[in-house]
Amino acid sequence: MREVSLNKAYTLLYPRQTVLIVSTSKEGKSNIMTLNWSSPVSFNPPMLCIAVGKQRYSAELIKETKEFVVAIPSDEMEKEVLFCGTTSGRNIDKFKETKLTPIKAKYVRPPLIKECIANLECKVVEEIEVGDHILFIARILAVYEREGKVLIDLVRKKVYWY
Ligand SMILES: Cc1cc2nc3c(=O)[nH]c(=O)nc-3n(C[C@H](O)[C@H](O)[C@H](O)COP(=O)(O)O)c2cc1C
Repeated sequence: MREVSLNKAYTLLYPRQTVLIVSTSKEGKSNIMTLNWSSPVSFNPPMLCIAVGKQRYSAELIKETKEFVVAIPSDEMEKEVLFCGTTSGRNIDKFKETKLTPIKAKYVRPPLIKECIANLECKVVEEIEVGDHILFIARILAVYEREGKVLIDLVRKKVYWY
């Protein structure tokens, strides 16, 4: 076993599932960001967490409204996923640019994404500053899925079936 650079820790923890996070401003503008750093954290009650960089527009919106949707993209959505992960919603409307379709959620203001294979409505219960990211721990309020479930990891370009 040889010691390697600390940065290697991140690549060793891959592959990870790539998801989209939808958030909405107080004024009602919705945004989409791409995220790899998520994890389930409790069965009962159902909870998950996401780590969002402090400088992201999404971090600002989630801090403000304490709500988000986790949308699971299909492998056909690679282009949209990359776009949402390389542009900031501060300057553009990512729903408009990607032509993804928002669907009204049941418990939270951010919309579900119609083209995604699954959507989870989440309400933040705790927020912790962790280095340069904010860890949002959230209660899962509703889960939706559709047929043909495929998960993608954009970093390794792998497709996972489950
Ligand atoms: C595959 C992929 C995974 C990413 N994972 C994360 C992540 O886990 N956390 C994070 O803060 N940013 C992550 N990003 C970067 C954000 O998606 C990116 O900074 C985005 O432009 C933020 O958008 P916003 O400013 O509209 O919130 C990822 C990007 C890609 C392409």
